[in-house]
Amino acid sequence: MTILAARPFDVEAARADVPILSRAVHGQPLVYLDNAASAQKPEAVIAAMAGAMRGSYANVHRGLHALANETTQAYEDARATVARFLGAGSPETIVFTKGGTQAINIVANGLSIQPGDEIVLSVMEHHSNIVPWHFLRERFGAVLRWLDIDDDGGIDLGVLDALIGPRTKIVALTHMSNVLGAKTPAADVVRIAHAKGVPVLLDGCQSAVHGAVDLTALDVDYFVCTGHKLYGPTGIGVLYGKPDRLAALRPFEGGGEMIDRVTRDVVTYNDPPHRFEAGTPPIIEAIGLGAALDWMTSFDRTAVEVHEAALRDRAMAALRELNWITLHGQARDKGAIVSFSMKDAHPHDVAQILDRQGVAIRAGHHCAQPLMERLGVTATARASFAIYNRLEDVDALVTALHKARKMLG
Ligand SMILES: Cc1ncc(COP(=O)(O)O)c(C=O)c1O
Repeated sequence: MTILAARPFDVEAARADVPILSRAVHGQPLVYLDNAASAQKPEAVIAAMAGAMRGSYANVHRGLHALANETTQAYEDARATVARFLGAGSPETIVFTKGGTQAINIVANGLSIQPGDEIVLSVMEHHSNIVPWHFLRERFGAVLRWLDIDDDGGIDLGVLDALIGPRTKIVALTHMSNVLGAKTPAADVVRIAHAKGVPVLLDGCQSAVHGAVDLTALDVDYFVCTGHKLYGPTGIGVLYGKPDRLAALRPFEGGGEMIDRVTRDVVTYNDPPHRFEAGTPPIIEAIGLGAALDWMTSFDRTAVEVHEAALRDRAMAALRELNWITLHGQARDKGAIVSFSMKDAHPHDVAQILDRQGVAIRAGHHCAQPLMERLGVTATARASFAIYNRLEDVDALVTALHKARKMLG
């Protein structure tokens, strides 16, 4: 485990660590503003993964040889790094998954549901935090209770309180919307749900990237996040669960590692987190995620938050000036994600014209169709910022939008 020395935040230093940022696209310097979909990777992550494969690789656990022991140590060190990063208390509360989606599926699949049991979720969830609950509706007769939002992604805590009833099994909410950037008042949500004895799952796939998370202080029951948005590799995600909550979940997949004993007649299970890590886990990816979190925390995180807020504010201020742009989501407590529509233009066309100018944004429903319906649109364009974006990237976005307007308007 390498813990990088803390260094003051400097966007140019962050950029210098990320090799892909120096490439060109369509003959233009790359301006990468699709970070909410997936972030680019620092050299430290690439080197950690390649280094593990070059220098010390074997399957983890059960090993009786040096390489197996070294790799097991590196894998478990990565778990400890994630626990520290999330303020999780103990590494045993951290389950490695293949992504944020699988983490939520593990929870949904693990609950015992009777017909009429209720799941509370908001209309601004990513499909990853909707479809697993629909499975429970289809298969076991669960009832989905939908929490509406205001136009900016704000939720009404009084309405939430009223939605939670005696049949509520879980409240499953995004911690930060991947479309509106709106942040959920998580501490209030947890307080309200816990007052009625109901557990809370927070989808932290976006929030974990943009600000420090302290799960112990938050007292949340389950939290998920995903490696590829945290400057780490694909194929790795995280499910955090309080020890008693993880212990109460039915296992998700069956196979090696997740068992205690297997006979012809019975099977008993390993303790969490291994109970939920059937088969050979994503070893190299976990090591890469550990390196990514070490890289993130090598910078002063408060300074990074200030920098990302400046990017967001500059983008919001510039787009507000354009009477042919509609902004979606202007919450006060909002991360560095800016969704918008251009008058008389389809977001896909906008994104394609921006791409020709080297500016990468995303357009579509962003895996949030109920939110699109709530906003009365079929798609939006979305610029999402990261630690390595410069203020000039915002200016490049605005210049490119003017060009798109000329071509499409
Ligand atoms: C809010 C949110 N939840 C869940 C996911 C799914 O994560 P993954 O791609 O790791 O399965 C995403 C990814 O876009 C997301 O933005």
